[in-house]
Amino acid sequence: MYAQMVKSTGQGVKDPSEMTDQERAFQERIDRGDRIEPKDWMPEHYRKTLIRQIGQHAHSEIVGQLPEGNWITRAPTLERKAILLAKVQDEAGHGLYLYCAAETLGVSRDQLTEDLLSGKMKYSSIFNYPTLNWADMGAVGWLVDGAAIMNQVPLQRTSYGPYARAMVRICKEESFHQRQGYDIMMKMAKGTPAQKNMAQDALNRTWFPALMMFGPSDAESVHSAQSMAWKIKMNSNDELRQKFVNETVPQAEFLGLTVPDPDCKWNEEKGGYDFSEPDWSEFFDVIKGNGPCNTERLAARNKAWDDGKWVRDGLMAHAEKKEARRVAAE
Ligand SMILES: [Fe+2]
Ligand SMILES: [Fe+2]
Repeated sequence: MYAQMVKSTGQGVKDPSEMTDQERAFQERIDRGDRIEPKDWMPEHYRKTLIRQIGQHAHSEIVGQLPEGNWITRAPTLERKAILLAKVQDEAGHGLYLYCAAETLGVSRDQLTEDLLSGKMKYSSIFNYPTLNWADMGAVGWLVDGAAIMNQVPLQRTSYGPYARAMVRICKEESFHQRQGYDIMMKMAKGTPAQKNMAQDALNRTWFPALMMFGPSDAESVHSAQSMAWKIKMNSNDELRQKFVNETVPQAEFLGLTVPDPDCKWNEEKGGYDFSEPDWSEFFDVIKGNGPCNTERLAARNKAWDDGKWVRDGLMAHAEKKEARRVAAE
């Protein structure tokens, strides 16, 4: 989901003739489909790009709990509450696997957390939009987790072992997330006219922000060809966005809902839907911190961190005492 924020540092792909022997051997391993493991040699730029990508991904999972966590206490039935609770807990787990994967690259989880809380590191723009009614839980599961699956399934084949393996489990859970969202939409869309309107309204508000999750058009994207060569980005943003639209429009039709884009039409020649671009100025504005909920989301994460200080202090004090006892017994 987080391809959108992986920025290049402006370096193109190195020509093999300019590579050191070590760099060439590394690239050859990737071309062969080998996995790179934590203790293997890797170029510094590969390490840094992955830390940013995995870190942003982890942050997105953690911040992504907030728009849905907001609805746990207001879920309409006990069953819906249990499902939503399980889904939000899964997202916490995804964050944890990903922080662990990032730690294997030599960054600490505390450092990543600090960088999120200070606003230095980003998370997916989608979580800076509000969830206004229960149907939003449907639209988020269906479209946001759906877009996440599109991005994450190819990442199961990414070159960095710990990241690829984390993706396998995450993707299994994401498909449950998407199904539960679609199931909510189904109930709402087949319900009373008022419920159907709520479902349509949720789709209207979520559609373009979901398309933005794939990142800017490749023509303008700052993503590096280097990430593709290193197999830490597997598909272009436009390719994934097109795939998402192709799969989602028939699902909307099945619900009896309308995608909020009058130009969204099947194009026989290309074998896919034509559709309108999202408003990219809005996207960049949200990334810069000016979305409807940026301040609220960061404040919530900062509060959680501050409120948890006594637990961290207690654990540290306990570990120190235990260590002191161990040393004294020696
Ligand atoms: Fe997730
Ligand atoms: Fe999810």
